[in-house]
Amino acid sequence: MASSSFLIPFIFSLFLHYPLSSDADLHQTRLFGAELLSHAAPKDVPVTRFFEVTKPIKVPRTEPCSVLVLQHDFGYTYGRPPVLAQYTPPSDCPSQKFSKIVLEWNATCKGRQFDRIFGVWLGGVELLRSCTAEPRATGIVWTVKKDITRYSSLLKDPQTLAVYLGNLVDRTYTGIYHVNITFHFWPAEEPFRFHKPKWVNSVNRFNSPADLVLPISRNLPLNDGLWFLVENSTDVQLKQFSVPRNAYRAILEVYVSFHSDDEFWYGNPPNNYIAANNLTGTPGNGPFREVVVSLDGTVVGAVWPFTVIYTGGVNPLLWRPITGIGSFDLPSYDIDITPFLGKILDGKQHQFGFSVTNALSVWFIDANLHVWLDKDSKRTEGELIEYSTQPLMLTLVSDFKGLDGNFLTTASRSIFSSGWLKSSHGNITTHSNQDFVYRNMMEFGNDGNQQIVNQTIDANTSVYERLLSDLYLIDVSRRFPLYLYTDLLDQGNGTYASVSNLSLGFNQDIFSHGPLGFSSGFLKNLQTGQGSMIVKGNLVTSGLGSTQQVYTYDGTDGCYFRNVSSRNYTILYDQIKQHCNRKRHLSLGFEVNRRSFPARRAFLASALHYQKKQATKELLALESHL
Ligand SMILES: *[C@@H]1O[C@H](CO)[C@@H](O)[C@H](O)[C@H]1NC(C)=O
Ligand SMILES: *[C@@H]1O[C@H](CO)[C@@H](O)[C@H](O)[C@H]1NC(C)=O
Ligand SMILES: *[C@@H]1O[C@H](CO)[C@@H](O)[C@H](O)[C@H]1NC(C)=O
Ligand SMILES: *[C@@H]1O[C@H](CO)[C@@H](O)[C@H](O)[C@H]1NC(C)=O
Ligand SMILES: *[C@@H]1O[C@H](CO)[C@@H](O)[C@H](O)[C@H]1NC(C)=O
Ligand SMILES: *[C@@H]1O[C@H](CO)[C@@H](O)[C@H](O)[C@H]1NC(C)=O
Ligand SMILES: *[C@@H]1O[C@H](CO)[C@@H](O)[C@H](O)[C@H]1NC(C)=O
Ligand SMILES: *[C@@H]1O[C@H](CO)[C@@H](O)[C@H](O)[C@H]1NC(C)=O
Ligand SMILES: *[C@@H]1O[C@H](CO)[C@@H](O)[C@H](O)[C@H]1NC(C)=O
Ligand SMILES: *[C@@H]1O[C@H](CO)[C@@H](O)[C@H](O)[C@H]1NC(C)=O
Ligand SMILES: *[C@@H]1O[C@H](CO)[C@@H](O)[C@H](O)[C@H]1NC(C)=O
Repeated sequence: MASSSFLIPFIFSLFLHYPLSSDADLHQTRLFGAELLSHAAPKDVPVTRFFEVTKPIKVPRTEPCSVLVLQHDFGYTYGRPPVLAQYTPPSDCPSQKFSKIVLEWNATCKGRQFDRIFGVWLGGVELLRSCTAEPRATGIVWTVKKDITRYSSLLKDPQTLAVYLGNLVDRTYTGIYHVNITFHFWPAEEPFRFHKPKWVNSVNRFNSPADLVLPISRNLPLNDGLWFLVENSTDVQLKQFSVPRNAYRAILEVYVSFHSDDEFWYGNPPNNYIAANNLTGTPGNGPFREVVVSLDGTVVGAVWPFTVIYTGGVNPLLWRPITGIGSFDLPSYDIDITPFLGKILDGKQHQFGFSVTNALSVWFIDANLHVWLDKDSKRTEGELIEYSTQPLMLTLVSDFKGLDGNFLTTASRSIFSSGWLKSSHGNITTHSNQDFVYRNMMEFGNDGNQQIVNQTIDANTSVYERLLSDLYLIDVSRRFPLYLYTDLLDQGNGTYASVSNLSLGFNQDIFSHGPLGFSSGFLKNLQTGQGSMIVKGNLVTSGLGSTQQVYTYDGTDGCYFRNVSSRNYTILYDQIKQHCNRKRHLSLGFEVNRRSFPARRAFLASALHYQKKQATKELLALESHL
């Protein structure tokens, strides 16, 4: 779809949204991103504040120590090296131990500009992957706050901060992003001052920051971000690393974002449809994608990513000022690789590999390896006990005639590993499990101009640790539902009318359990939107967008509820509740415990190396917590 002359030089590497179809491609329904013709905005409107709905970060009541780490204006930065700044830890803080660290991104922009993806790295470790808001003539401002406490070990020492935000500025696209990045440090409170609630133990086991965070990214200097670029389905990006010989736990945190031909991968039609209709330039490979992570050639985990819609996606008016779920703070994905640690404790170089099933250009992928070290010994030892994968099962049912028809794509996969690791903490056995199920129904009508996508991704991970008779468990189940309806009407002249509506959900249940208690958090986050617009070239010349969002979090660490709606820059209603429904809250933990019990039982039973007696004992121990 090489349609727009102004984009051609950058077509695969510029992270603009895809231009609209040219006349030659009339018959392809494409989801697209565009930029709003912003000079239509009235002159007297105040600066618009954009935001992503998310629960506020819990911070101590004390004053933080704050460090402005970067102040920069991102003008013509495309294809240039990342902007660098020297970070030094706060020196005048009352304590050098911190209980909470928050990154704050503040930006303003004015004029006309596309949405740009950007990354923030510290010592090569990615802290934030995000997308800019699209400005308007009267100016916009937005703030992103992210809890970066899990990177504490990195923040103790001076480091190089790198930010890549590939922006293009010319006579038409005038928006320059003015950015401040600030780190806020909350000194740790006196230990043992408070009586800790009983769930703290199980939480801390899985939440305490690692002793070391290793970058699994590209090295500076580059004329790009530090992420790896995965350009097709056979492309494997590799990174060498080594871990200290006294590591006792390791979690790989993976960052991904998708662009150009795969920006709307979930709406890409299968290749048989493209071939039968002689379509050229329509991104294909069907709607299924997965990021596969290997360690020395063995698949250790996968990421079935959330369908982030960037701020210019589908209909840019939908995202003003409420932005798409995850667009200002893209989710990262944790894979517990502790069972494999025994294989890499030899002090030698090992290699992570990243690939994307069915990928089209381009995916940006990198990772951080969080490593916990045994302070009381120089060497730990371990062994992989069991490893089993159910390879990817991918099916496609096609039923189409010409440009109209239906497709059903389904997929599933699971990866299980189990290993022991002996450190001064004892001999800990860890099971790490990932289960995925995917379903995508795609429908084309109206001679290919109307497209409906109805997709659900289920991604469950659980980690189960045993130390003598103590059991620790963390279960994370994520469900990402997506419904997208788009209808394009060619008005001649390279002008299109587009109608779209969507529903985008991010649901996550976290449950963790230890000998002294449990913690849980339930998130339901759903956006619905309806939009219409007239598009000429890449520009939206007029339109309307309405978005409704309901965000509900109930957890042992508190509750948050927000019900908000906007229409064309105006907030229609906004209701926020910060208090838990006490009765509901109390029953929550028990409910979760009961609900997840069958899964945990199945999990235990499936761990073949367990002696039956041992398993029974563990089941009894679990049951005693119900
Ligand atoms: C970022 O912007 C917000 C809103 O304008 C403001 O309240 C906050 O103080 C700013 N943060 C910093 C560190 O300047
Ligand atoms: C960045 O910080 C400077 C100095 O504190 C301030 O003047 C400016 O308004 C800030 N910009 C943003 C986008 O917050
Ligand atoms: C896939 O991408 C890699 C990296 O850009 C390239 O070397 C290779 O030729 C590509 N393969 C195909 C089949 O296009
Ligand atoms: C596609 O191209 C082939 C070969 O040129 C032609 O026979 C066929 O009719 C075309 N199909 C469509 C749907 O245009
Ligand atoms: C650790 O425990 C596992 C499983 O119980 C056992 O197979 C292994 O030999 C133990 N390792 C050491 C060093 O004791
Ligand atoms: C994920 O976990 C949920 C809740 O425990 C369960 O209902 C669902 O079937 C699981 N899905 C997969 C793919 O394992
Ligand atoms: C999407 O598909 C699911 C079944 O997978 C169905 O329950 C749901 O109603 C569909 N959503 C819409 C809006 O059609
Ligand atoms: C074609 O474009 C011209 C100039 O933008 C406009 O006046 C005319 O109404 C357009 N025609 C159609 C059919 O949209
Ligand atoms: C989306 O819009 C179309 C056309 O207005 C309508 O038929 C369909 O029911 C809508 N779907 C949803 C989920 O709102
Ligand atoms: C919504 O905003 C667009 C673009 O600025 C404008 O064309 C349209 O008239 C607005 N609609 C309403 C109902 O305000
Ligand atoms: C959100 O607010 C709207 C408008 O007040 C209301 O109609 C809707 O029921 C609310 N939704 C929830 C889940 O509270």
